[in-house]
Amino acid sequence: MQRYTYINKYIYIYNFFTNLFGLEIKLTEDNSHTLFVRELNETYHSVKGAIQEAQHVYIQKGLADYVKLTQLSSLNVLEIGFGTGLNTHLAHEFAVKNKIEINYTSIEAFPIKLEIIKQLNYPELIEFNQENYFKLHTIEWNKPTEIDEFFKLQKVPSKLENTELPTTTFDVVFFDAFAPDKQPEIWSKVIFENLMTAMKQGAFFVTYCAKGEVKRNLKSIGFRLETLQGPPGKREMIRAVKL
Ligand SMILES: C[S@@+](CC[C@H](N)C(=O)[O-])C[C@H]1O[C@@H](n2cnc3c(N)ncnc32)[C@H](O)[C@@H]1O
Repeated sequence: MQRYTYINKYIYIYNFFTNLFGLEIKLTEDNSHTLFVRELNETYHSVKGAIQEAQHVYIQKGLADYVKLTQLSSLNVLEIGFGTGLNTHLAHEFAVKNKIEINYTSIEAFPIKLEIIKQLNYPELIEFNQENYFKLHTIEWNKPTEIDEFFKLQKVPSKLENTELPTTTFDVVFFDAFAPDKQPEIWSKVIFENLMTAMKQGAFFVTYCAKGEVKRNLKSIGFRLETLQGPPGKREMIRAVKL
């Protein structure tokens, strides 16, 4: 019994420190936090403003524009990279404020420990019930969970490359992986083709990235490309529409 407790304590301390040392919390220019991954030399969000970027790319150019265009009141959203849950939290806020039902699926290969999540300042900065943010992190993985009457969340703990997606299902895809030079495999034509199959006709694919190669890959498999103004501090972003 004593030995068991000792091993558990050791694992806890080991996890705590690997998580803490692999990821650093950084302040971005809009005062919201992001995480910096030392091994990749990469941040989870734009250093010009994490909340501003998420609001602009995923909520405004993704959800809000799609709802305006289609007038739908019920959407299926797929996110690649749950990470800090910032996009998910903002999408939840959007759903409640606009009375839109959102069925949200988020795929994440490397879930972040709650010890780190608790240190992020999103609940202080986003005027939308603090508890909601933590609820997104504490629900079970792989289990569709009703957060409230407008928002249902399923978090999938796996790599996108190994995840089987349903066909013709999603209205909006938030593609928020690490940059193409850090993980080129996930920005490939094969991955984009799988995502396209999972999307409905007319669905939006939005990403913060505006690299020429990404645009060419998306275009070559049949998406209609829109290069839109980026969030503050970034010139452009991509929106691709399934024709
Ligand atoms: C740029 S961060 C954005 C995270 C999140 N959207 C947020 O707002 O915090 C990229 C995320 O993609 C995850 N990721 C990396 N490779 C992945 C893969 N192959 N499949 C699924 N998720 C992946 C990372 O662990 C990380 O959480």
